Amino acid sequence: MTIRSDRSLEPFNVYIAVVGLAWACNYAQKMLIAWLLLGLAGDCFAKIYEDVSELPGLDYDFVIVGAGAAGSVVANRLTENPNFSVLVLEAGVSNEGVIDSIVPFFLENLIAQNIYEWNYTTTPQVGLNNRSIPYSRAYMLGGCTSHNGMIYTRGSAEDYNRWADVTSDPGWSWDSLLPYFFKNEKWTPPADNHDTRGEFNPAVHSTHGINSVSLSGSRWPIFENQVIQTTREFPEEFPFNLDYNSGEPLGVGWLQSTIGGGKRSSSATSYLGPKFIQRPNLHVLLHAQVSRLLGPQTTKGVVTFGGVEFSQGGSLFTAKATKEIILSAGSIGTPVILLNSGVGGKNALTALGITSVLDLPSVGQNATDQPATIAAWSVNSTQTLDPIKQNATLFNEAYAQWNASHTGPFTNFGITHIAWTRLNANSPIFENVTDPAAGPKTPHIEILVGTGGSGAEQTGNFISFTMVMLTPTSRGSITLQSNNPFDPPLIDPGLLVTDFDLFTTRESIKRAYRLIEAPVWKDYTIAPTVNLLNMSTDALDEFIRNNSSPAAHMVSTAAMSAKDASYGVVNPDLLVKGASGLRIIDASIIPFIPSAHTQAATYVVAERGADLIKQRWT
Ligand SMILES: Cc1cc2nc3c(=O)[nH]c(=O)nc-3n(C[C@H](O)[C@H](O)[C@H](O)COP(=O)(O)OP(=O)(O)OC[C@H]3O[C@@H](n4cnc5c(N)ncnc54)[C@H](O)[C@@H]3O)c2cc1C
Ligand SMILES: *[C@@H]1O[C@H](CO)[C@@H](O)[C@H](O)[C@H]1NC(C)=O
Ligand SMILES: *[C@@H]1O[C@H](CO)[C@@H](O)[C@H](O)[C@H]1NC(C)=O
Ligand SMILES: *[C@@H]1O[C@H](CO)[C@@H](O)[C@H](O)[C@H]1NC(C)=O
Ligand SMILES: *[C@@H]1O[C@H](CO)[C@@H](O)[C@H](O)[C@H]1NC(C)=O
Ligand SMILES: *[C@@H]1O[C@H](CO)[C@@H](O)[C@H](O)[C@H]1NC(C)=O
Ligand SMILES: *[C@@H]1O[C@H](CO)[C@@H](O)[C@H](O)[C@H]1NC(C)=O
Ligand SMILES: *[C@@H]1O[C@H](CO)[C@@H](O)[C@H](O)[C@H]1NC(C)=O
Ligand SMILES: *[C@@H]1O[C@H](CO)[C@@H](O)[C@H](O)[C@H]1NC(C)=O
Ligand SMILES: *[C@@H]1O[C@H](CO)[C@@H](O)[C@H](O)[C@H]1NC(C)=O
Ligand SMILES: *[C@@H]1O[C@H](CO)[C@@H](O)[C@H](O)[C@H]1NC(C)=O
Repeated sequence: MTIRSDRSLEPFNVYIAVVGLAWACNYAQKMLIAWLLLGLAGDCFAKIYEDVSELPGLDYDFVIVGAGAAGSVVANRLTENPNFSVLVLEAGVSNEGVIDSIVPFFLENLIAQNIYEWNYTTTPQVGLNNRSIPYSRAYMLGGCTSHNGMIYTRGSAEDYNRWADVTSDPGWSWDSLLPYFFKNEKWTPPADNHDTRGEFNPAVHSTHGINSVSLSGSRWPIFENQVIQTTREFPEEFPFNLDYNSGEPLGVGWLQSTIGGGKRSSSATSYLGPKFIQRPNLHVLLHAQVSRLLGPQTTKGVVTFGGVEFSQGGSLFTAKATKEIILSAGSIGTPVILLNSGVGGKNALTALGITSVLDLPSVGQNATDQPATIAAWSVNSTQTLDPIKQNATLFNEAYAQWNASHTGPFTNFGITHIAWTRLNANSPIFENVTDPAAGPKTPHIEILVGTGGSGAEQTGNFISFTMVMLTPTSRGSITLQSNNPFDPPLIDPGLLVTDFDLFTTRESIKRAYRLIEAPVWKDYTIAPTVNLLNMSTDALDEFIRNNSSPAAHMVSTAAMSAKDASYGVVNPDLLVKGASGLRIIDASIIPFIPSAHTQAATYVVAERGADLIKQRWT
């Protein structure tokens, strides 16, 4: 990319623009004056801008970097107040009409290298036999919620109570956050409208939030019965749990997903949906990659930045925030922007030729992700997802059904339940390692159970279990390889570096095989596709290192800590330590990974974060 000179857009002919639009849109006179005073052109149509020259100006009250899970929430909530003007800068492309992002079944199409991806690769992972592997991050409106697995899991109450403990802010406890989970969640009937009694607990859900969550919209009755029968045959190890999102996840419960009406519900389709994007005080600019924060000024040891530099079409621009800059670029994007702005460990930045502005050695450190492995079995049942993948006629039938009514097998991708389980209290690993789980009601292991093989098989019927190691003790990092803000960063999720993580992954595989030992599976399963149970420990470890992948749940790279802590990047109010007017609201601030997939946790961080901003400015 060639970088031309910095330039700021002049607010062009604001008066004419506002008068014209206000007239056309029939705005009240009062609004017209308000917009004139704000120096903003209102627009009566949905406003997602593709080109910076279409923006009326680059001065706003708030500039939000990144329109992923968190950024979209913050943009939505701040613009509830018509007095606030908000600009969202998103590097990626539009999600509009992207069929792979709409049809739940097409999820897999989005995870490979494609135009909706940052296409990141990790550093060689010592814990993975030195493999460098893809690290998925979405490059599109909605961020990773536009291409993630849609699995909706909050984690344990203990997970959030630990956040409250380590930050000394009771506002981060489960009880305090529950209203924010409810602001986020819009519990929705499943696509097939089946009777959902006995499959969830309505008391722990909300129907008045913004992002749709539902039970599966198509059934796999034979397989589902296998799983439910297991909870009866092995009630000690795998008890039925009516609702794992109650704060007490242990046991086996029905899958809940961020799907509504048979379609993916992302932060783009929900928080930036038609109802909200028309707000005249909300401007979203695509293809705008932020490189750094500009113009640092230090007064009494506190740094304030003058603007946000971003690139579009080979030119650099500067957006200004009179109230706050909010970084919501995610666990990779956010530390990268901070480091490029001179906010990070002083020595490492100086070595790269970046002037240190704020010495915060925790930026990019403590990266935490959960390793996942897969086990599959061939089965004595034709009722699995495989025929749809193997037979074009069936595929087209399912596609036609989805096209016609947003129902049928394309409304999910085969996972029916989740089993959450703990290591035994007397497990030998605890001789040497303090239990990293947040408490005794917090799982170490998740087993996602579903029908269907890998998709590579030409024939046959399969079931697959994905085991996620939820409570890793390994840590990685996000660092820079150069002082060019457009170079990809060095991404080290630090997977499976510790004995505990390897031990627990091994144990997660044993638990998956144990589940299938329930008598009900006897005539159902035929054989494992790879027999992991008869391997020596060394062979199993090698299998794990060769085959594990990151769950793509990275957190903690700009972690929140207590106000007086000697480490951390943001205070419990999410303001950057040592800075003013700069907040971070995304998964990077999460101080300990929840025992869960991370979108619900990120949404709740964003809902509370937006409230903290509103409290500050109103
Ligand atoms: C493949 C995959 C599957 C997943 N499956 C699940 C799941 O099933 N359930 C679940 O709960 N969680 C899942 N997750 C995790 C979940 O989606 C993330 O934890 C969540 O989206 C994090 O939200 P965020 O706002 O922090 O970041 P993101 O959602 O990643 O949003 C960050 C946004 O910032 C933009 N951005 C980054 N850098 C810049 C820059 N320099 N300038 C401008 N814009 C920038 C990005 O393009 C992106 O749109 C999955 C993640 C992946 C990748
Ligand atoms: C917006 O500003 C006006 C004028 O200052 C004030 O009366 C009103 O309460 C504000 N609205 C909100 C939602 O803060
Ligand atoms: C990711 O790779 C695809 C395919 O090679 C490419 O088209 C796309 O532009 C890349 N994404 C980014 C952000 O560079
Ligand atoms: C992985 O790389 C490290 C450092 O380069 C090396 O010491 C180690 O032997 C390698 N491990 C394997 C399994 O190749
Ligand atoms: C990483 O997090 C731990 C708390 O879990 C903290 O003690 C440590 O200081 C952090 N390290 C950095 C570099 O921030
Ligand atoms: C594919 O499915 C159709 C419809 O059920 C069936 O008629 C056809 O025989 C199947 N094809 C193969 C190769 O199994
Ligand atoms: C379904 O709709 C999509 C997009 O409109 C189209 O590409 C596809 O061919 C349709 N498929 C079927 C089987 O109707
Ligand atoms: C605990 O650590 C000791 C000393 O390093 C080691 O000998 C032992 O095998 C470890 N126990 C387990 C269960 O890993
Ligand atoms: C498949 O299931 C049927 C009964 O449903 C049983 O008779 C048969 O033995 C099973 N086959 C295998 C390979 O388990
Ligand atoms: C493990 O089981 C598989 C069949 O599932 C077999 O091929 C393999 O030889 C067995 N390995 C050992 C070490 O017994
Ligand atoms: C693991 O990967 C290495 C390097 O690719 C290979 O030599 C080895 O056979 C693999 N082991 C297993 C158990 O797959």
